[in-house]
Amino acid sequence: MDEQDPTGFARGLTNYGDKDFSLYLRNSFAASMGYSREVLKKPIVGIANSFSGFNNCHRHFPELLDAVKRGVLLGGGLPIEFPTISLGEVFLSPTSLKFRNLMAMDTEEMIRAQPMDAVVLMGGCDKTVPAQLMGAASIDLPAVQLVAGPMMTSRYGEERLGACTDCRRFWGKYRAKEVTTEQINDIEGRLATTSGTCAVMGTASTMACISETLGMSLPGTAAIPAVHADRLRAAEASGRAAAQMVTSPIRPSQVITEKSVENALRVLLALGGSTNAIIHLTAIAGRLGIKISLERLNSLSDETPVLVNLKPVGMHYMEDFFFAGGVGAVLRELRPLLHLDTISVTGETLGERLDQDPGYIDRRVIASAEAPLEPQGGLVALFGNLAPRGAILKRSAADKNLFEKEGRAVVFSSLEDLAARVDDPDLDITADDIMVLQNAGPKSASGMPEAGYLPIPKKLSAQGVKDMIRISDARMSGTAFGTIVLHVAPEASTGGPLALVRNGDRIRLSVSEKRIELLVDEAELERRRSEWTGNLVPPEQRRGYDRLYASEVLQADEGCDFAFLQPVADA
Ligand code: FES
Repeated sequence: MDEQDPTGFARGLTNYGDKDFSLYLRNSFAASMGYSREVLKKPIVGIANSFSGFNNCHRHFPELLDAVKRGVLLGGGLPIEFPTISLGEVFLSPTSLKFRNLMAMDTEEMIRAQPMDAVVLMGGCDKTVPAQLMGAASIDLPAVQLVAGPMMTSRYGEERLGACTDCRRFWGKYRAKEVTTEQINDIEGRLATTSGTCAVMGTASTMACISETLGMSLPGTAAIPAVHADRLRAAEASGRAAAQMVTSPIRPSQVITEKSVENALRVLLALGGSTNAIIHLTAIAGRLGIKISLERLNSLSDETPVLVNLKPVGMHYMEDFFFAGGVGAVLRELRPLLHLDTISVTGETLGERLDQDPGYIDRRVIASAEAPLEPQGGLVALFGNLAPRGAILKRSAADKNLFEKEGRAVVFSSLEDLAARVDDPDLDITADDIMVLQNAGPKSASGMPEAGYLPIPKKLSAQGVKDMIRISDARMSGTAFGTIVLHVAPEASTGGPLALVRNGDRIRLSVSEKRIELLVDEAELERRRSEWTGNLVPPEQRRGYDRLYASEVLQADEGCDFAFLQPVADA
């Protein structure tokens, strides 16, 4: 920060046409909150607090906030919290992704508009961390991301339970009549029993690990359980680090670079992390003009092993990952593949961090690079005439027996159509068919929900069918599993090839070739294209945020950000 730049309450004055009066007025109003003259001169660390009664994952934020404030005071700053939108994953309709960009705008603009010299971002639940990092990247003020930390697991009989892979597992059993109504009701109260984010390597945990790998969170903090005392110490340290950045500023644009984004992709692949993270990381990097190509993802995936044995891909939970060594252990294993000269918000390089790392690893949870769980990364991008701009498959969570397969398409034209027919006993479908869901992409009325995990039709699940190839332009929860092709781009609602699939068409999936093909000749596809009329309500017939969203949201391969939030091109 420039010596002459105003700091604290003197930053960014309200415009009354008289700067001295603006500062006088602000100080007098700030004094009404009980601050002494000495405190009014301190640099300010804002704390973006996404606590909400509609966000169970952030239930412990009041206690965490106290610890952040303590850290800021220890670092010589004045902590001032401010509320932002919160996105509690399961409380939002139609889906939280629709509001991620709104939270990013809220976060960015409130940081910009209010007088603060640095900021601590308190987030956790799925979309909150990417929203905060997107906003912070755009404003480019020194920022430290503090995540909520994961929930602890619970028990049902002798079984260990953790949201939300086990939610889906037991719901699948209930649909297959392997679990009674009484049992499923009993389990309902045991799946999520502490504050914190979902207990597996879902989207929230993946984004926490990505934030630490990028360098936006303090080293060693991503996996600390929400209720562990270390989480409070991490909050205190985050506040202190933010206060120290007032005098030694490190901006998000110095931390989020092409190299650190590539490191984050490596970690995502090694974690077998959430498919959603590709969209979020693309959006975060995009705010700084950094492009993530799906072709590059594939080349990284080919040479990055899966190391972490966590649900939904493996068997353990986030608390096990923390005690097993967490992100630091994964980074050590990946060290030869990483850019070691990236810096974190502490100013330390990744290489320096790893040199000091204590070195403990529990091999039951984190495998060595020499003996990985899988030799290749957990995610792969597919291309072909069905997805010209790409689609994503989480191969680490899929059934390998379905990786090279041709099958007959069974098409559902919307989520409503899916809900109405999937359990119809007369539905013409076998386990060898390929289920296709259309019109669930970013611009669709459903706003790209986590509906790509199409339920196995009841009549097949009752026969013991556990997995089928499913293809859509929707997303999938990071806690889900199956041979599920997601994020097909361009989406059906904008006339992408997915809109042209008809019942009975043949589709070919080849994971080895990274292809997804609709085996219909081009002349017939052209005929269907000419008949396609679309089903979107035009933006001009919408209002408010819904209108903004409909006109501005980009496709999955562009991170589903808003076009106008991208960096302005140099004149
Ligand atoms: Fe908040 Fe899963 S519901 S992280």
